[in-house]
Amino acid sequence: MIYLKTAEEIALMQEAATLLSRTLGEIAKWVAPGVTTLRLDTIAREYMQDHGGRPACLGYEGFPASVCMEVNETVVHGFPSNYTLREGDILGTDTVVELNGYCADMCYTFAVGEIDPKVRQLLVDTKESLAIGIAAAREGARIGDISNAVQTYCEKRGYSVVREMCGHGIGRKMHESPEIPNYGRRGIGPVLKAGMVICIEPMINLGSRNIVIERDGWTCRTKDRKPSAHFEHTVAILHGETRVLTSFDPIAEALGPRFI
Ligand code: MF3
Ligand code: CO
Repeated sequence: MIYLKTAEEIALMQEAATLLSRTLGEIAKWVAPGVTTLRLDTIAREYMQDHGGRPACLGYEGFPASVCMEVNETVVHGFPSNYTLREGDILGTDTVVELNGYCADMCYTFAVGEIDPKVRQLLVDTKESLAIGIAAAREGARIGDISNAVQTYCEKRGYSVVREMCGHGIGRKMHESPEIPNYGRRGIGPVLKAGMVICIEPMINLGSRNIVIERDGWTCRTKDRKPSAHFEHTVAILHGETRVLTSFDPIAEALGPRFI
């Protein structure tokens, strides 16, 4: 069942999304060699709570933290830890905040200091594939149009698309129908209707698309241990307009010229 949101509900979701974007902007100020991912998790949790939000990942199906930390070969759902970031790492920070009873979900992958040019390009292209997916997300289009746009863009550039994990609808719950795969055929799947709010989140690998779930039951990494990138926005489909509720602007502001 796909829940269509009223204008009032979307306004509330916009508030959650703005808080979330600012939270990632807060994380951005601290991402650097020498910082632990646990420290970043604490910064994000405190920022959400100080602004009336609830870190929705914390305790979600037993997830032990507020932010999923995706270091290098980690695709999604990594735990914050005492791992200390090093020059050359990439770090995806994926998190959900609940405010006013509604959730927003967003991810940005940071470069830690100077990184390998090929990996940097993976970040640039994955972020662009999210923009391409959003451009395909119009009232009257189908989910498959988004999926196909992301897949085509990434595979043309020699990357592979993770298939086991998808984007999703969002609202009172962080995961609602429909699923938004990052691969698939144009013209298939549910029609996008005004009032749908969805998360588009390409997870793109430098090597093969195969993944492994670690023994902790959560951490998802590439099988070949090559890097994986992940960007996500929460997007509202409106009559004749697609509105991206989350924003990378606070991250851009924090990173200055280092923003990808
Ligand atoms: N953006 C992630 C997702 O949609 C958020 C997961 S929170 C967790 O899966 F608690 F499930 F890890
Ligand atoms: Co998500």
